[in-house]
Amino acid sequence: DDPYAVYRGMPPFGPTRLGNWVTTSHAICDAVLRDRRFGVRSADLTAAPAMADEFDMSFLDKDPPDHTRLRRLAQPSFSPKQIAGYRPRVERTVDELLDRVEVGETFDLVSAYAAPLPIRVITDLLGVPDADAERFAAYGTVIASALDGIHSLSHAARLKAANRDLRALFEDLFALRRREPADDVVSRLVAAEGHRIQPHELVPMCNLLLVAGFETTVNLVGNAVNALLDHPAQWEALCADPAGLAPAAVEETLRYDPPVQRTARCAREDLELAGHLVRRGQYVITLIGAANRDPRAFPDPDTFDIHRAPTADHLAFSSGIHYCVGQPLARMEGEIALRRLAERLPDLRRAGPLRRRVSGIVRGPIHLPVRAGAR
Ligand code: HEM
Repeated sequence: DDPYAVYRGMPPFGPTRLGNWVTTSHAICDAVLRDRRFGVRSADLTAAPAMADEFDMSFLDKDPPDHTRLRRLAQPSFSPKQIAGYRPRVERTVDELLDRVEVGETFDLVSAYAAPLPIRVITDLLGVPDADAERFAAYGTVIASALDGIHSLSHAARLKAANRDLRALFEDLFALRRREPADDVVSRLVAAEGHRIQPHELVPMCNLLLVAGFETTVNLVGNAVNALLDHPAQWEALCADPAGLAPAAVEETLRYDPPVQRTARCAREDLELAGHLVRRGQYVITLIGAANRDPRAFPDPDTFDIHRAPTADHLAFSSGIHYCVGQPLARMEGEIALRRLAERLPDLRRAGPLRRRVSGIVRGPIHLPVRAGAR
């Protein structure tokens, strides 16, 4: 009768033909995500080729050896040295966004701050010209909605259109960077074309980096500010020592309110998991949000506490071979966003009700009205 173990999953979790399993345990989530007897795809489950191509999320969606090959190609763009190089750009972007905030006026923290930051950073990193960044972001947002599944025919049609338009934008960018390489991700990818990456793999890789780069980080900043405003003493503590406490505020937000709430793995063979027989082809849904509140990993787990001494690694960035490749960037963006907000707008307060996005996977506010300064 352990409530944090493994139990049979009900719809709507994943393909239900074979029945699925769900786990809320930190230890079991971590073990499943690291266990090579599980993969992201069922060996038996071959999606319709058109679907597979259209919604291919590159290496996020792949098992070794393709996963290994493609991830190795992306990884150097997120090395500590590269990330340190992006820091001034992130700081400049954050300050530009804060410069636009009017003292005493209500503004939406999401659309004015949390969303534009990662969009600018990821489009910059990919090498998208500034003039095109908004179009990339708009199509990327539509594509990201597929992470939650395809809800209707009209949704499928919108996805198809966004996919086609985004593909055309990327094809132009590839052509540009083949002619004029620069120091950006797309230039590095096209330089590897034909040997380490095949031409048809380029667009899915760029889609993945674009979507993963902003649909998650926006929610990290939104969830952090939301939690801090709910806990005024901790917001004050952050404002008293922004540089010292911003990293801890980021980590506690990732634990307490992770932007990605769940993922899943498919058994590649019959296996035993916490006393249950999991059949080949069945999925185990790893509930990251629940695992991050497992009291055996985190004492007093429902308390948001930026002074918490780490007792375990949270699973906000997953675990095992798919551990988020962008996490150094996400952590840096989150840290700078919170630090500068606390330094520049210490009297920030709520100015209206929060609206949450409707999603079973991605969690965060879509609208967070706040006000700083006079009145
Ligand atoms: C993978 C979360 C930011 C790129 C993942 C996974 C999670 C995650 C949970 C693994 C999914 C699984 O195991 O099934 C987050 C969160 C972020 C964030 C919470 C922000 C707070 C970023 C950024 C980028 C990025 C900024 C880069 C531009 C990726 C990529 C993968 C990934 C490429 C696939 C890794 C693989 O399959 O090997 N992320 N991510 N993420 N993330 Fe992030």
